[in-house]
Amino acid sequence: MKKRKVVTLAHYYTIPEVQDMADKVGDSLELALYAKDCDADVIVFAGVRFMAETAKIINPKAKVILPDINSTCSLVTMTDINKLKQWREEHKDYVHVAYVNSSAEHKALSDWTVTSRNVADIIEYIYSQGKKVIYSPDRNMGAYLNAEYGYDMPLWSAVCEVHDKFNKEALDELVGSISGQKYIIAHPESPLPVLNDCDYIGSTHGLLNWVIDYNGSKDAVILVATEDGILYNMKKARPELDIRQAPIYTGCKCNSCPYMKLNTVEAVKLAQQEQGGTVVDYLSDDLIARARIPIDRMIEFGHRHM
Ligand code: 13P
Ligand code: SF4
Repeated sequence: MKKRKVVTLAHYYTIPEVQDMADKVGDSLELALYAKDCDADVIVFAGVRFMAETAKIINPKAKVILPDINSTCSLVTMTDINKLKQWREEHKDYVHVAYVNSSAEHKALSDWTVTSRNVADIIEYIYSQGKKVIYSPDRNMGAYLNAEYGYDMPLWSAVCEVHDKFNKEALDELVGSISGQKYIIAHPESPLPVLNDCDYIGSTHGLLNWVIDYNGSKDAVILVATEDGILYNMKKARPELDIRQAPIYTGCKCNSCPYMKLNTVEAVKLAQQEQGGTVVDYLSDDLIARARIPIDRMIEFGHRHM
């Protein structure tokens, strides 16, 4: 009998040991595209639930396993679907752009799915068509886009509980204590006051590339306002650089996504053996078909414009 092909995907925010078990490590967009084209019988998704659901939506034939069903995301849990439907009704003449950090029902209600990597280009494209946009669910990212590009998008109000903790006062204090050159780079899920001070704002992928391509002084301190998992990849790529995580208001130096960290080595191993985890088989065919439309639109945009 032909051996089943098991492909393991790990997000950059999982622990290093889990990243080392994966066939592919990446950000949400890279992993979704890999899931679509990987020709696997089984996809073990070491990430969070919306990512595994996205993989199932764009590759419905594969058996997708999430190592721990509790690995959700605050942007999803803070969004009440009935209220979202009402908000959508109140903005009938708008194009609804929804961040990939959303449930399948949320995606099915929207016109476009975006990730932090393509959100700015896609929204710019929609405005260039003379249309108006509403953005959900990340309030911080929406506020950043409104401020940076002069939009007036009505915003849904959920946050990433990890990035929302980055704090301007704590950052200013730390920056003040560093006498030499320093750079601040941040994920746009961080609060606007933190983003206002940054040398670079970008997706997980963008932040990693910024560090890889950095050609300034080796004595500079690079402060990174995003989840701590990606620092492993940054330090692996550029071990000679002084890369530190930006501070949060509790004084703790580390912002860590508790949901990503549920992907323990043991849980991923059991999922790879099809002995554990949760099979993403609970999305109806109808929901998959509806949620796929905005995702395909995003992928198609990428082929045409990026
Ligand atoms: P990326 O799209 O950059 O992978 O980010 C996903 C995420 O959950 C950020 O907190
Ligand atoms: Fe969600 Fe934030 Fe965790 Fe990303 S880091 S999965 S946005 S809670």
